[in-house]
Amino acid sequence: MKFFLDTAHLDHIREAVRWGIVDGATTNPTLVSKTGREPRDLYAEICGIVPGPVSLECLATEADAIVAEAKQLATIADNVVVKVPLIREGLIAVKQLAALGIKTNVTAVCSPLQALLAAKCGATYVSPFVGRWDWMGQVGMDMVRQIKTIYNNYGFSTEIIVASVRLPLHVLESALAGADIATIPMDVMEQLYNHPMTDVILTQFNNDWAKVPGK
Ligand code: E4P
Repeated sequence: MKFFLDTAHLDHIREAVRWGIVDGATTNPTLVSKTGREPRDLYAEICGIVPGPVSLECLATEADAIVAEAKQLATIADNVVVKVPLIREGLIAVKQLAALGIKTNVTAVCSPLQALLAAKCGATYVSPFVGRWDWMGQVGMDMVRQIKTIYNNYGFSTEIIVASVRLPLHVLESALAGADIATIPMDVMEQLYNHPMTDVILTQFNNDWAKVPGK
């Protein structure tokens, strides 16, 4: 499974890329607003650091305007993927962008049927918002499993990005469900390395090593 970093924070991106586990990145308007940066410059910097696809979100809501905005975003760098909202006009735009060879990530997906529509329109990626489903008292990962089954049934090549990841369990369940990608916030990415038993083991080894003569 590929790991994307779900952030627009440049220091976090640089640090996680250094760890060697980042395959791409996703941004959204909320994440960009937290940086206080002008988007186009910020996007160019992110695309220069990330060794893989970087999703940049369209804000237009009418198909022709989405296509126009997507074309602009795609000029920023070769690794840009345009994030398009899961609305009817968005999917009309996705079909046109697929014909133009512009990669898309259909975002804010909240049902398996929406993911089926996105795949039929030629989306490169689809992003089911798992954490937000959990907030509604539903099992978010059920949506991912159903999308996976639908895509397998019909041989769609659209890749599933598990989005709205809130905790390491979401990453584990994404991998078990066969998701192509999980897009992970920095705090969750850091937690993936940690286990209290690992700390206990290493402390014991270090303490015992201190007793070894002539080392
Ligand atoms: C994915 O591409 C989105 O940026 C992200 O996961 C949004 O989820 P959230 O707003 O629920 O955190």
